[in-house]
Amino acid sequence: MFDIQEIRSQFSILDRDVNGKPLVYLDNAATSQKPNSVLDVCHAYYTELNANVHRGIHTLSQLATEEMELSRRKIQKFINAEHDFEVIFTKGTTEGLNLIAYILTQKLQKDDEIIISYLEHHSNIVPWQMLCERTGAKLRVIPIDENGILQMDHFDRFLSEKTKVVSVNQVSNALGIVNPIEEIIAKTRKNTDAYIVIDGAQSAPHFNIDVQKMNCDFFVFSGHKMYAPMGTGILYGKREILEALPPFHGGGEMIATCSFEGTTYAGLPFKYEAGTPNVGGNIALGAAVDFMNRVGHAHIQNHENALLEYAQRQLLELEGIKIYGEKAKRTGVVSFNLEGVGIASDVGMILDKMGIAVRTGHHCTQPIMNFFNIAGTVRASFAVYNTFEEIDILVEGVKKAQRMLS
Ligand SMILES: Cc1ncc(COP(=O)(O)O)c(C=O)c1O
Repeated sequence: MFDIQEIRSQFSILDRDVNGKPLVYLDNAATSQKPNSVLDVCHAYYTELNANVHRGIHTLSQLATEEMELSRRKIQKFINAEHDFEVIFTKGTTEGLNLIAYILTQKLQKDDEIIISYLEHHSNIVPWQMLCERTGAKLRVIPIDENGILQMDHFDRFLSEKTKVVSVNQVSNALGIVNPIEEIIAKTRKNTDAYIVIDGAQSAPHFNIDVQKMNCDFFVFSGHKMYAPMGTGILYGKREILEALPPFHGGGEMIATCSFEGTTYAGLPFKYEAGTPNVGGNIALGAAVDFMNRVGHAHIQNHENALLEYAQRQLLELEGIKIYGEKAKRTGVVSFNLEGVGIASDVGMILDKMGIAVRTGHHCTQPIMNFFNIAGTVRASFAVYNTFEEIDILVEGVKKAQRMLS
């Protein structure tokens, strides 16, 4: 049974007012709200368990370690990784992508190629540009058509023995477009021995993830976009690949032995977890996974798809609205502009006065905005706790903005 009111009752923040109106929170692609079960785990960690992990002989340290490692196993199950040590705690997708781009430095040389797409977040562009600067490799970018859909014939032509990395998102944060990663992965495997990196920042909150079935080499996502605290995230990497590649940060936790003559590195996952981790946050990420499992993936997906379909239908009934990626397969996001209203932030400010939280601007995807020749969009993005009534309020807000700004 999917009971939306019962789900909403688990998110205290949804009861608050903003600017004298009940909060309508539609900025979930930026970060989701956190259920009370996750907040309780954070509170309990600091009131009952706080200690540094892995190095302690004392009881609290051992309990904290056990809880964090239990959380790692929950996440292993959540993404169906073969081993728990393939699950590396990070502070988010950005850190995960930078880590991968850094540790691949020795594997690339001049004129090798890295394929990304036009739909990438800046954090899946800039680390690769930096890798190109370090190595002399070149970026190739899969273009999009006017619907925002990847032009796969270009991808086919890009693939060659020069391709060393293919890194794409499963779902675009700016437009919500679901990319054909099964096809991308299958073709990459067939034609190259490139590393395959999937940015799952916008898919992990919505989809059932199975990294073994997906057959990617790396999969990264952010906890804070899927009901967990800020500063949490996961890098999944295949065992043999992580074992063969060098570490990223050096420091405590990641060594086996350290002397001035030389250092040897710890095994997985600690080799990639230098320094004190975000123990409370990492444990709470496990609680966020528990929350999603309790609601059920099918319910999450069905409800969010229904919200998207409803929002798109209602918005398209208005005149003078342009939805980007309207005809593409999408999830969780509707990104739009009002004709004759050049500045998305004006719309966002009017909506904010009505208690409606949306994001406006380039969404860290300036190439997409350049492609459509716009400065930004208004983006409403959904989570499992959003309602059809909230979409009605959004549509009323957009009508009001149209009246005020035209
Ligand atoms: C597709 C995508 N990739 C990467 C990121 C970066 O995530 P974070 O800021 O949590 O590191 C985001 C955040 O919006 C995103 O949507």
